[in-house]
Amino acid sequence: MKTFFLNFIMASAMLMLTFNSEAQQAAKSKAPQAGKPAIEAVSATPVFTGTGTDWFISIKDAPFPGLPYTYEALEPVIDKATVEIHYDRHHRAYFNNYKKAIETSPETGEMSFYKLFGSITEFPATFRNNAGGFYNHVLYWSNMSPNGGGKPSGRLMDAIVAKFGSYEEFVKQFEDAAKTRFGSGWAWLSVDLATNELFISSTPNQDNPLMNTVERRGFPLLGIDVWEHAYYLKYQNKRPEYIQNFWNKLNWADVQARYEEYFTLVSRLK
Ligand SMILES: [Fe+2]
Repeated sequence: MKTFFLNFIMASAMLMLTFNSEAQQAAKSKAPQAGKPAIEAVSATPVFTGTGTDWFISIKDAPFPGLPYTYEALEPVIDKATVEIHYDRHHRAYFNNYKKAIETSPETGEMSFYKLFGSITEFPATFRNNAGGFYNHVLYWSNMSPNGGGKPSGRLMDAIVAKFGSYEEFVKQFEDAAKTRFGSGWAWLSVDLATNELFISSTPNQDNPLMNTVERRGFPLLGIDVWEHAYYLKYQNKRPEYIQNFWNKLNWADVQARYEEYFTLVSRLK
């Protein structure tokens, strides 16, 4: 009997130790990172910031960039869980999958994004889906900021008013493109590669305006992701509400920088 009790006490102690260890691990992994950035800022990965010059680097050389802000930084417009899952699972998966695709199509490895997207129909669909998904999300994260909102200014605002009649009309047309994109996809503001005019478009899945699949090719300045994974946790089926709130986190400085950069790159884009 004495032996039985000793064994029972030792087994219970081992069980408690195991439980405590697992509980501590779980608590540790769920512990909030108060005041600490969830991940490194984009500036920590200067090789690839998603600005226009990166259209011309070799696709094999692109690293997976950090977010320019913490997971919770876009609240209340986009909740922390959505940003974390969207960035760390969806975006990272596109990145990993297109890197794998390069291994099976090594001739693509030295190509730039600009060249790949311009001839995307010549390559396996995995490039269209995953290289597109990777690049589109780099743009999307850069297009937003915790201190976003307001209106554009300078040459970009002038061009918006010249093309759409007013800023309000531009917003309406952009929202319409995003709201009416059937299924999963994106809405864009781009510069037409042929005419240098601004235009709004939408694309399905992970296509973008640089791909040779679109009717009108353009240099993307602004993109909104309207896949359900971008908004469903907070907005469920209310996509229009997500789109309307998106403006409150829009980083117009980033969009304007891309517009200015277009004119420095234009000779390489024709
Ligand atoms: Fe997405």
